[in-house]
Amino acid sequence: MSRLATQRVANGRRAHIVGWGMAVPERVLNNHDLSTMVDTSDEWIRQRTGIVERHIVGDGETTFSLALRAAQSALEVANLDPAQLDLVVVATVTPEYYFPATACLLQDALGAEHAAAFDLSAGCSGFVYALSVAADLIAAGGYKHCLVVGAETLSRITDWTDRNTCVLFGDGAGAVILEANGAPGGILSSVLGADGSGKDLLIVPAGGSAQPANAETVQARQHTVQMDGRQVFRFATRIMPEASRRVLSRAGLTVQDISLVIPHQANDRILQAAARSLGIEEERMYSNLSRYGNTSSASIPIALCEAIERGLVKRDAVLLLTGFGAGLTWAATVLRWSLPLPVPVPPRRMTFWRNLRYRWVQLRSRWRQFWRQVDSRLFQILYDREGRRKR
Ligand code: UT7
Repeated sequence: MSRLATQRVANGRRAHIVGWGMAVPERVLNNHDLSTMVDTSDEWIRQRTGIVERHIVGDGETTFSLALRAAQSALEVANLDPAQLDLVVVATVTPEYYFPATACLLQDALGAEHAAAFDLSAGCSGFVYALSVAADLIAAGGYKHCLVVGAETLSRITDWTDRNTCVLFGDGAGAVILEANGAPGGILSSVLGADGSGKDLLIVPAGGSAQPANAETVQARQHTVQMDGRQVFRFATRIMPEASRRVLSRAGLTVQDISLVIPHQANDRILQAAARSLGIEEERMYSNLSRYGNTSSASIPIALCEAIERGLVKRDAVLLLTGFGAGLTWAATVLRWSLPLPVPVPPRRMTFWRNLRYRWVQLRSRWRQFWRQVDSRLFQILYDREGRRKR
C-alpha cells in the first residue's frame, strides 16, 4: 500500500485542483520608479528582497475586479459552469468593503447562484487557510465544487512614504477550482497555525473597532501597513520549514518526495533560507518575486498558476504550498496532482459564449437591485411601520 493511501479520507472524496487562473493589473511600478518616491535604490531592493517590479492597480481596478478576472480564468480552465459552484471563498486582507464580503460580490458577478460565499482573513497565509477549509468541506461530503481565491490590492493600504514597506508589496489575484473526486491524491494534508501575540509585528492599526477612523488616524497614516520587518523575517525563516516538515510528515512523505515548493513570495532571502533549512535545491522552490513583489494572499495562487502554465507541474507531482503572515499565522498544504492536466492548457481568454453569459448575469443582478428598490418603495406605500396593510 502506498504511503499516500494511508491519508485517504473517510468517504473517499478528495479535493483536486481542476482549474486555475490569475490576474494582475497592467500598471507596473519598478524599483527605479520607487527610488524617485522614497530614499531607496534598485540595488538595495534587489539585493535585500529579490524584487524588481510589482503591479499596481489603476483607477477602477479593485480587489474584486482582480478576483473576478482570476476566477473567470479558473472556471474556464475547469470548463465549469459557475452555477455548479457550491462555495466561493476569498482570502484577502484588502477586501472591497468591511462588509459585505468580497466573496459575495464575486458570487453575484459570476452567477454562482447555488454557492455559499465568505471572506477569510489570515494575512498572507490566507489562501492556504482557505484551500484547507474548502478541501475539508469537500472531504466531509457536503460540497462538490469550490472556488478558492486569494486577491489583494495592498497598494491601497501602503504608506508610499515609508521605504521599509512600500518597496515590498504589489497587487494581484489567483484562483483555483477544487473538485470532489474519488481518485487518490489531491489535497493530502494541511497544517494551519497562529500566534496572536505577534499581532503588532504586521498590522494596520486603525479603521477597526480598536481605533475607528478619524482625522487624526488618517493624519498619522495609521490606515497603512506597519511592519517590524526584521522580526517578521526571523519568524518566517523559522516557521516555513517547520510547517513544511509537519505537513509532510502528516501526509507520510519526506522532503525528497516534493516535486515543487510554492512558497508565499515575501523575500527571496526567506525562500533561500527555507530551502537551506529543508535541504531542498532552490530550483525546486518557485519564485516570481522579481516580477510581482509580495501580493499577500494572492502570491501562492499566482505562483501556482504560473508554475502550471510553464509546464513545471507534471502528472503525479507532489506540491508543497506554504505561507506565513500577519496574525501571526502560518499554513502549509501538500497535494498530489494525480488528475490529468488539460492538454493543451486552455488560453486564459474567455470564450464568446461565456463572456455573453457574464454580461447576462450582470444585467440580471442590476435588474434585481432595481427591483429591490421598487419593492421597498411599494412596501412603504402599501404598509405602515408595523407591517400592517394600509387601508
Ligand atoms: O508577507 C509577510 C510580510 N512581510 C515580510 O515577509 C517581510 C519580512 N522582512 C523582510 O523581508 C526584510 O526584513 C526587509 C526587506 C523588510 C528589510 O530587510 P532587512 O535586511 O531586514 O533590512 P533592515 O530592516 O535590517 O534594514 C537595514 C538597513 C536599515 O538602515 P540602517 O539602520 O542599517 O542604517 C534600513 O533603514 O536598510 C535600511 N532600509 C532601506 N534602505 C534602502 C530599509 N528599507 C530600505 C529601503 N531602501 N527600501
